[in-house]
Amino acid sequence: DPVVPIAPEIPIVPIVPITPVVSIAPEVPIAPEVPIAPVAPIVPTVPISPIDPTAKTHYHEHGIHQRRTGWADGPVYVTQCPIQPGGSYTYRFTTEGQEGTLWWHAHSSWLRATVYGALIIYPKEGSTYPFIKPKKEIPILLAGEWWDANPIDVINRAIRTGAAPNISDAYTINGQPGDFYNCSMKGTKIIRVESGETNLVRVINSALNQPLFFTIANHRLTVVAVDASYTKPFTTSAIMLGPGQTTDVLITTDQPPASYYIAARAYASAQGVPFDNTTTTAILEYEPTVPNAQTAAQLTSKHKHNHKRRFQTSVFPRLPAYNDTPTVTTFTTSLRSSPSNDISVPTHIDEHLFFTVGLGLNPCKPGRSCQGPNNTRFTASMNNVSFVLPSTLSILQAYVQGVNGLFTLNFPKVPPVKFDYTGNVPRALWTPIPGTEAYKLKYGSTVQIVLQDTNIFAAENHPIHLHGYNFYIVGEGFGNFNAKTDTAKFNLVDPPRRNTVGVPVGGWAVIRFVADNPGVWLMHCHIDSHLSWGLAMLFVVENGVGELQSLEPPPADLPKC
Ligand code: C2O
Repeated sequence: DPVVPIAPEIPIVPIVPITPVVSIAPEVPIAPEVPIAPVAPIVPTVPISPIDPTAKTHYHEHGIHQRRTGWADGPVYVTQCPIQPGGSYTYRFTTEGQEGTLWWHAHSSWLRATVYGALIIYPKEGSTYPFIKPKKEIPILLAGEWWDANPIDVINRAIRTGAAPNISDAYTINGQPGDFYNCSMKGTKIIRVESGETNLVRVINSALNQPLFFTIANHRLTVVAVDASYTKPFTTSAIMLGPGQTTDVLITTDQPPASYYIAARAYASAQGVPFDNTTTTAILEYEPTVPNAQTAAQLTSKHKHNHKRRFQTSVFPRLPAYNDTPTVTTFTTSLRSSPSNDISVPTHIDEHLFFTVGLGLNPCKPGRSCQGPNNTRFTASMNNVSFVLPSTLSILQAYVQGVNGLFTLNFPKVPPVKFDYTGNVPRALWTPIPGTEAYKLKYGSTVQIVLQDTNIFAAENHPIHLHGYNFYIVGEGFGNFNAKTDTAKFNLVDPPRRNTVGVPVGGWAVIRFVADNPGVWLMHCHIDSHLSWGLAMLFVVENGVGELQSLEPPPADLPKC
């Protein structure tokens, strides 16, 4: 078994302390006291990275369950072959039983850097929200990124050389980096509100690689939903979203008229250094209470034409520091399902699974030199298997048509070796084994998965997303999961229900769900560099017996490989 020749004595990158101190780190003012993102290091000449016209695409409706319509799920070579340039494919699915904030995105290589959008499911006609009817609804798409390069080239280069990919040159709110970037100041997203409103802000983190904090200056955020599942409302000054996650908050415009900055910035515990060029801003602007209607009209038109702010007074928020894990923990452990969700947490478990999630290093191909640490290549795995996509047929097609050889059903229930996940890692486990491996679940079985950060190389918050399902997050914590003591503390009463769980840095999270949706479903880290490195696995959920439980036949226009 090849052991990577890495210098064993010194950890390559200092690992972020995983047991955070109890006191919450002081929040960092975003401006103007501390120059956060002075001027963008680069001035993108093209507002959006050029899209390769020959690129093959496939869309994923992130969070849509696709009951019986697994063919419309989208991940390339998992549920379909790519749509060829000039080709088309109609995604047919129902939103039945779901409401709230989701999104859609390309699901091939790094195409979702520019191909993404909000997907909002409103309550059915005649039904309402389980909270006060908002005056306005404000969708916020965080962080679709600006690159001074084609993002596909960035990841391909990283894979070729073994190095970590560059981070993007700017993050965005609704497509604009905001006022801290001179080049985009004119385009800064301005959201108009009036005094005395309660508005629903639907926040989506569509960043490729970056968990983000989000806040609005001087406004309390009342959290009412995550990943299109209602929560018991609670109030906070900042929220954290991993890539893939959504959070709905109510805000009340109870402040004096002014321009209030909306801001997002990295929660980047793995990097070990703050990198504030992730800061992106928009503005929540109150209608001026100008008595003279003419003045108001003038101000408005001036604003339109000159992109001038209508207020001299700008109020900047404070955001948690980049490594403020205690604030993240306070936020995630405050989430509780709303009774309006029909909470039904499985209590009897048929399948007890334990999956590690983490990075690793693979040896360089013979005769090549690699740019990872000590001539290695970065990789990632679950249970030490680094997921490899097929390239000739989708796994769902292969499964349905009985084509052999594309994948195995050997994904291990538990890691090959259990070890101390607080940093003392046997080096054999730094070298995952490539494979296309699925785990088969019986239709209707109840499943518990312990997701444990391996802490290999770097402790990071891994946003693990399961296709086809929502799950309950019954517990989370730091260090090694302890089946006895931690199980006793599970919340089986009103745990949050999500489609993406942030596995805490150097810690664990436990999810439960009922495997009642037949199909082939990817589970993966929604940090795209980790997905590209293989931090993924597959579930195959066997068709049920009844007609209603079975998958529809493949659509006629399903793309061919
Ligand atoms: Cu939002 Cu597999 O993705």
